[in-house]
Amino acid sequence: MRVAVVLLALTLAAAACGNRDQGAARPDAPARFGFGRAATAEEIWAWNIDVMPDGAGLPPGSGTAAQGVAIYARKCAACHGRTGAEGPFDRLVGREPRSGFPFGRDPRFVKTLGNYWPYATTLYDYVNRAMPLDAPGSLTPDEVYGLVAFLLWRNEIVTDTAVMNAQTLPRVVMPAHDRFVIDNRRGGPEVR
Ligand code: HEC
Repeated sequence: MRVAVVLLALTLAAAACGNRDQGAARPDAPARFGFGRAATAEEIWAWNIDVMPDGAGLPPGSGTAAQGVAIYARKCAACHGRTGAEGPFDRLVGREPRSGFPFGRDPRFVKTLGNYWPYATTLYDYVNRAMPLDAPGSLTPDEVYGLVAFLLWRNEIVTDTAVMNAQTLPRVVMPAHDRFVIDNRRGGPEVR
């Protein structure tokens, strides 16, 4: 009984603290403080750049490997190597091992777009959002599509004439596509 009373007291104290922290109990607080202004649709659109695995969010535009190769040489090769495999930074091209998926056990294998990425559309999202490292967000949609086409071709995933755009890119099946499952664990410490 005594334990229960102490617990109840602690619970009430915690609830009181919570209320004070959030300021929820202040009847004089205005609904809005009047700072700033609502973002316009264009401003929200400028930040709304995520591209989903099914291609939702891909912008109009298109590109081929032939168009991407020149942009790659100018804006990417210094960090990722002449052909995408030399570094000094992340290796972008490589299909080894051609069978199996031993990355967890064998650290000799370098993860690349060609052997590890499950969705081609993620490549658009990532390059558009984060590359080149020294000027992220500076590429046009056509440039990004061209770079994506070039990198997919270099990884032997599409042909050298493939046109990448909002319709074709989601249909590209990456070699590692079936190596990932949706994590449907719920709540507790379940491990598949
Ligand atoms: C100044 C150096 C630099 C330049 C220039 C650069 N990158 Fe990167 N890139 C990096 C670094 C460093 C990383 C790793 C970033 C991280 O892990 O957070 C990276 C990561 C990437 C990745 C993800 C690799 C992976 O498997 O996780 C891709 C794809 C990529 N870059 C593409 C490009 C493309 C395309 C260009 C040209 C438009 C480019 N990068 C230009 C330095 C650079």
